[in-house]
Amino acid sequence: MGQISHEQFYQLIEARQSIRQFKKDEVPDQVINRILNAAMHAPSGKNRQNWRFFVVQGKKRDDYLTYSQKSWLRIKDILQKQLKPSLYDFTERFFFTLGNAPVLIFAYSVNTAEENYLTSIGSVYMAVENLNLACVAEGLGCCTMGAPLEIKKEVDEFLGVTEDELYKKGEIELLCGIVLGYPDHKPPKAPRKTENKITWLR
Ligand SMILES: Cc1cc2nc3c(=O)[nH]c(=O)nc-3n(C[C@H](O)[C@H](O)[C@H](O)COP(=O)(O)O)c2cc1C
Repeated sequence: MGQISHEQFYQLIEARQSIRQFKKDEVPDQVINRILNAAMHAPSGKNRQNWRFFVVQGKKRDDYLTYSQKSWLRIKDILQKQLKPSLYDFTERFFFTLGNAPVLIFAYSVNTAEENYLTSIGSVYMAVENLNLACVAEGLGCCTMGAPLEIKKEVDEFLGVTEDELYKKGEIELLCGIVLGYPDHKPPKAPRKTENKITWLR
C-alpha cells in the first residue's frame, strides 16, 4: 500500500466513533462519491455487490426530520429505561434535528434467492463499515442508525423505493440510515467490552 503505516491503519479504526452533532458545512459531492466508492470496495457474497445507497440532501433531508421524529416515538420508551437523563435528552434532540447533519445516506440490500439472506445483509453492512471508516479519513463524522427500520415502509415510500421493480418482488430491503457531516463535537470514546467475545479453539 505504501501510503499509510500499520500504526496509522489501526489509529484510523480506533478513531471511528459515532458522531451526532455536525457543522452546517456542506459536504462536496466528490467527497461523498469517494466514501461511497470506499463502501463499494467491500467484499460481498458471490460478489453480488448487492448494496444500494440513497443520498439525501437539501430540502429532502429537511423533510426527513418528520420521519426521524416519528422513529423516535417508537424507541423512546426503551431508551428512557436504558439511558441516564442527560443522554436521553441529547438523543431526543438528535432525533429531532439529526444533529444538523447535511447528508443522510440510506443503505439497502438486494436480497434474491441466489444468495443466503444473512449473507446479503452482512455484505451491505461490510460496505457500511467501509463508509464509516472513509468518513474518518475524510475528516467527516457519521452515525449509522437502525432507527429508520422502525418506520421502514414509510422510509421506502419517502425515497421512492416502493416504485422499484425489486421492491414489488420483495427483493430490496432497508438496512440502515447514516447521518454524516463535519463533526461539531468530540464525544468520549464508547468503552469496548472484551470479556466473553472471543473463543479460541486449537
Ligand atoms: C446497526 C447499527 C444501528 C445503530 N442505530 C443507532 C440509532 O438508531 N441511533 C443512534 O443514535 N445510534 C445508533 N447506532 C450507533 C451506536 O449507538 C454506536 O455505534 C455504539 O453506541 C458504539 O459507539 P461508537 O460508534 O461511538 O463506537 C447504531 C449502530 C449500528 C452499528
